[in-house]
Amino acid sequence: MAVKEFQKTIWDFYRKNGRKLPWRETKDPYKILVSEIMLQQTQVVRVLPKYEEFIKTFPDFFVLSQASLSSILRIWSGLGYNRRALYLQKIARLIEIEHKGKFPQDPKILEQFPGIGTATARSIVVFSFNVPYAFIETNIRRVFIHRFFEGQTDVGDKELCPFIRQTLDQKNPRQWYYALMDYGSYLAKQVENPNQKSKHYTKQSKFKGSLRQTRGNILKIISKEKRVFYNKLFSEFQDKEDLFKKALAQLEREGFLQITKRIIKLR
Ligand code: ADE
Repeated sequence: MAVKEFQKTIWDFYRKNGRKLPWRETKDPYKILVSEIMLQQTQVVRVLPKYEEFIKTFPDFFVLSQASLSSILRIWSGLGYNRRALYLQKIARLIEIEHKGKFPQDPKILEQFPGIGTATARSIVVFSFNVPYAFIETNIRRVFIHRFFEGQTDVGDKELCPFIRQTLDQKNPRQWYYALMDYGSYLAKQVENPNQKSKHYTKQSKFKGSLRQTRGNILKIISKEKRVFYNKLFSEFQDKEDLFKKALAQLEREGFLQITKRIIKLR
């Protein structure tokens, strides 16, 4: 009974307030992958224009697999967490080469791709193929804590999972998850964020003066020039030598940059 009532609340809300979003107008796994990766750490309003631009410029796995890193970063700039852009291209190359252009429908295979965890893998399969997998992301977590764990703190995703499974619409999981996410996003504006009661709650760390900001700044400079002298680049970060060196080492390790004593190049 509680299940039926809950489902009715969510469906009623969705009928009246469901959001029309461009990545919900498609079943193309490529477009859904791009949107889910962008939405991992970034809000819908900021993703919208970038998604459109990205899809227009790189309409499929093949085009993305062939694109230059600088052209990808140019579009990504402003979204942050630019590691995700690199992951997307790595995934595109894996799909093209190892999967012969055919997108796997098994979340276990998708999980092995860079930048894709269990939840993202399942969400992509749900939205592309309408298969009823259970997964949790921030909006969904908010809905279940609010509804089934009122007054409790330190709620783990393990505890939420049975509720997610039992309420999941088996016939139309795609729409069901759209509805849950919309309700969760609505709750965020209505009540004090229920996710603070989650074990898995983290605030996005401060950007100013962070390693993340330094990485972004380095990539911004190099994307324009494609290559710079080490000393010239360093001169822009004089007062933050530690951050600069750490960011540079990370970017090299991740495959963004090639670094020699004198020259730094975008890969
Ligand atoms: N619609 C489909 N995926 C979504 C997501 N991750 N966040 C918000 N709306 C979505």
